[in-house]
Amino acid sequence: MPRVPVKVVKWDEIVAWSRKLADNIRASGWTPDVVVAVARGGYVPARLLCDFLGVQDLLSVQVVHWPSAAQVAEKAYVKYGLSADLSGKEVLVMDDIVDTGDSVLLAKEVVERCCKPKSVRTAALQVIISTTKYVPDFYAVEVKDWYWYQYPWTALEDISSFIVRMMREERQELWTLDKIVEKFVEWYGNELLEERFLYFREALERLKKEGVLRQVNCDGYACYQLGG
Ligand code: ADE
Repeated sequence: MPRVPVKVVKWDEIVAWSRKLADNIRASGWTPDVVVAVARGGYVPARLLCDFLGVQDLLSVQVVHWPSAAQVAEKAYVKYGLSADLSGKEVLVMDDIVDTGDSVLLAKEVVERCCKPKSVRTAALQVIISTTKYVPDFYAVEVKDWYWYQYPWTALEDISSFIVRMMREERQELWTLDKIVEKFVEWYGNELLEERFLYFREALERLKKEGVLRQVNCDGYACYQLGG
């Protein structure tokens, strides 16, 4: 078992889950007038949902967490709120995943406070039932055990922060590319490396450009080291 359990989510699953979510919402007899995406994870699913439900109005609220990918979120806060008159409107707040429940709940409160909606309901593609304290009104997939779901829209970001986290925690100073790959598989599993292989080098290049990683020479081999 890898240290961090990761499941890679493919585009066709995203489309199938968005379609299923739209079916669930339709079956409830309730129809949203407006969808509010919780940025950034909710953007793509919210846009697909608008297509499947025929909703024209798509807005957004940005909720951020600290720290980043696959670490326990400390606190969610609203980075960008909303200013729109939604009086008389049925509103659906949409995120990709409900893990702790904090983001979607906070976004719901923002909409209720800012914009005088008639009602606000919540939706997500996936809900992790063992970790969340809040279950959204609608979802496509219920999962029992916690995984980091590596969605297509966060591949480069996730792989970059996964590499950094691994290198920090391993406390090894110099890393050959082979060593990074070997440890990466130990930490995050083979599926992630295989499915997102094309992102791996790009992640290293980005980290170098940002000064998070430095490339040094190890007896004629390229080595990587943390710190600019
Ligand atoms: N965002 C918050 N929790 C997540 C998880 N378990 N997988 C992917 N993205 C997330």
